Amino acid sequence: MKVSVFTILGFSSLAAALPTLTRRGGRFALQNGIDAINLNNQFQSLTSSSPCTSGNACVNGQFAQCVNGQYVLTSCGSGLICAALPLVNSAGTSITCTTQQDLNSRIAATGATANGTTTTDSPSNVTPTGSPSSFSVSSNPSTGTSNTGTGSSSNSSAQTSLTLLSSLVAPDFAKTGLNTNTSEAGEVASLTSTNNFINFCATLPNLPITNGQQIKTGSCNPAPMGAIPSTTNMPSAKFVSPNNLAVVPANTTFQVTLAIKGLATGFFVNPDTNYFAAPQSLDSTSGQIQGHSHIVIEALESLTQTTPTDPNKFAFFVGLNGKADAKGQLYANVTGGLPAGTYKMSTIVTAMNHQPVLVAVAQHGTLDDQIYFTVAAPGQSGTTKTTTSIDGSKPSASS
Ligand SMILES: *[C@@H]1O[C@H](CO)[C@@H](O)[C@H](O)[C@H]1NC(C)=O
Ligand SMILES: *[C@@H]1O[C@H](CO)[C@@H](O)[C@H](O)[C@H]1NC(C)=O
Ligand SMILES: *[C@@H]1O[C@H](CO)[C@@H](O)[C@H](O)[C@H]1NC(C)=O
Ligand SMILES: *[C@@H]1O[C@H](CO)[C@@H](O)[C@H](O)[C@H]1NC(C)=O
Ligand SMILES: *[C@@H]1O[C@H](CO)[C@@H](O)[C@H](O)[C@H]1NC(C)=O
Repeated sequence: MKVSVFTILGFSSLAAALPTLTRRGGRFALQNGIDAINLNNQFQSLTSSSPCTSGNACVNGQFAQCVNGQYVLTSCGSGLICAALPLVNSAGTSITCTTQQDLNSRIAATGATANGTTTTDSPSNVTPTGSPSSFSVSSNPSTGTSNTGTGSSSNSSAQTSLTLLSSLVAPDFAKTGLNTNTSEAGEVASLTSTNNFINFCATLPNLPITNGQQIKTGSCNPAPMGAIPSTTNMPSAKFVSPNNLAVVPANTTFQVTLAIKGLATGFFVNPDTNYFAAPQSLDSTSGQIQGHSHIVIEALESLTQTTPTDPNKFAFFVGLNGKADAKGQLYANVTGGLPAGTYKMSTIVTAMNHQPVLVAVAQHGTLDDQIYFTVAAPGQSGTTKTTTSIDGSKPSASS
């Protein structure tokens, strides 16, 4: 019996493991496998100059993203090839970098075989180029028989693998979100991805990878957003002192007291080496975001200023890196105080890698607080004094 190039012996021995593996995949498993085989066949005919309209593909074994009608290629790295893989938990495929062995075992696990899907697309039409990275199960005969058929479930290796687990693909990321029936006026198409944007920064070759640095000229950050707390665990902050519209004595140290709830405080990583460098994480017992807050004070022309402030300029900034006390409060001293003037004081509540906190719903109360206050020279301003200096003396009594 003649064996097609796509159905080597290793392939059929993997198919023996089929009954257990397809149970996870459900009805769509076989179709996903067929779709993946067909896609990988189609990729064989693509070159770097092939025109494209949108989405991702594989060209010469490299990951290809369609940008402005042309493929932008990204090498998969040593030992890896680009391939369409069958999704495990939902209908569809995922285009990603993987090993030939992983590709073989995932397709085998779906029960799909090339010969059952090539009635109109015979292997002779796609003519494998012989490149080691092109799709051909027979190109690496040693992989088939050694495969254990464990699929995508290895959790520990997932955290070092360069391959996206099919079970983690967010299928709705592939949709623009536009719907002529329901879209609001002015709604724009979302960027889309079938691989969770894992190689998104390759579309922005002019931006360096953030890589944990605070790059002032801009960068592209590749870390996922991470864990999102429930709506019962959204952070909220309120300044206790100074309070809104307080009058504070000029050039005199004063203490800021911030009440905070819904945040697991005291989590703070190195801001010089690990800025935005990990996903948002939750405290396992409270379910709250592990993070910290900051206080920033900006000078205003007046309490009724209407022009936006310049975020590059601030009179005072401090991270509140410790744990909140038993009262749920955090403290900082503005040592030496501030010159006379009017000021806005804001919190910046962040996860531990300094990224702004992310919550479960779009419509929510503010997660930060902002107050406005006056710093007055002794004897200035008749406004009620609503705060005290650090030593407890009345503002008017301090020199
Ligand atoms: C090829 O397809 C035929 C008919 O669909 C099937 O009977 C046969 O088992 C397949 N061969 C392999 C090696 O999968
Ligand atoms: C994955 O690994 C982590 C860390 O070893 C562990 O805490 C977690 O329970 C594992 N998850 C699964 C689904 O096995
Ligand atoms: C828009 O509404 C029409 C009529 O109800 C429906 O046939 C069509 O499928 C809808 N389109 C989308 C994109 O939901
Ligand atoms: C603020 O200064 C006071 C007086 O020196 C000191 O007792 C307090 O610990 C300081 N608070 C902080 C948060 O540094
Ligand atoms: C506060 O200090 C600044 C300089 O640090 C000085 O220009 C200003 O006059 C001082 N204001 C008062 C009210 O002492």
